[in-house]
Amino acid sequence: ADLAAFIRGLPKAELHLHLEGTLEPELKFRLARRNGMQLAEQTVDEVKQTYQFHDLTSFLQVYYPAMQVLQEAADFHELAFDYLTRAHDQGIRHVEMFFDPQAHTGRGVAFATVIDGYRSAIVRARREFGISAELILCFLRDYSAEYAMATLLEALPYRDWIIGVGLDSDERGNPPSKFAAVFARARREGFLLTMHCDIDQPDSIEHIRQALEDIGVDRLDHGTNIVEDDRLVELAKAKGIGLTCCPVSNSFVTSQMKSDEIVGLLHRGLTVTVNSDDPAYFGAYAAQNYVALAEHAGLDIDQVVTLAKNSFRASWITPARLDHFL
Ligand code: ADE
Ligand code: ZN
Repeated sequence: ADLAAFIRGLPKAELHLHLEGTLEPELKFRLARRNGMQLAEQTVDEVKQTYQFHDLTSFLQVYYPAMQVLQEAADFHELAFDYLTRAHDQGIRHVEMFFDPQAHTGRGVAFATVIDGYRSAIVRARREFGISAELILCFLRDYSAEYAMATLLEALPYRDWIIGVGLDSDERGNPPSKFAAVFARARREGFLLTMHCDIDQPDSIEHIRQALEDIGVDRLDHGTNIVEDDRLVELAKAKGIGLTCCPVSNSFVTSQMKSDEIVGLLHRGLTVTVNSDDPAYFGAYAAQNYVALAEHAGLDIDQVVTLAKNSFRASWITPARLDHFL
């Protein structure tokens, strides 16, 4: 209990958070009602029952259909504002949040609707309780590179509201190299780059290598399998690449928290961070992820503090603000 209180009070940044992954069953149920949509589930409890999975694929099969209740800008606003409120209550001072525009535009919701809702929530949360937040546009890697490029071009009018681009969804057979031209263009347009290299994927190491050497990412999401390759660990260290690890998410998609791997990378001097990924689905926001890892791995207070400081070091805030947090 003491540890949990300490962690909550510790200033932290969150760098691996899917806004669509913050859709709590209660909100899903309420938005469906408001938008006149018929759900298969009759109660909030029945919605909760559907939040069950054993790997990345079964998770994504629940995740994408659920977010169809998001229709109007007010829905996206409410989702993001609720998350930012919770994050603030847990000591999160800064957050860089993923969103999946193609999961909405692909079903007829305008890009403007999505980003207007998210943006107004960010402005409001900053005004009401001082949290700072940025958006990272993720491309869905199981769709084509051409569709990703079209989405990047669609985002350009909103470039001032988007700090970087990422890559998520089903990694199997969808390597970073598939999106080399999209990420090169995004770089030229001034976006920072990150991408998912999910836990224990086939070709994990080759995907991490491509992200670091061929794409030239600024950060790696998950990326925990890098522990298997000394050369890549040294390369990531030399480049100052942060890793956004998600212990509770790991325990859902692989049945292991991967705490030995995460702590091992911390010992080797990598800028390892702790994050929640899809907290409404995995039942743990940022602070609970710190607690879970600390308890499972037996971390001492200094290590917990290092993880929190790393979250700012690996973030994309300005050097002046970074000084303030370190
Ligand atoms: N979309 C939301 N969470 C994800 C994850 N952990 N991996 C890939 N795609 C995702
Ligand atoms: Zn993720």
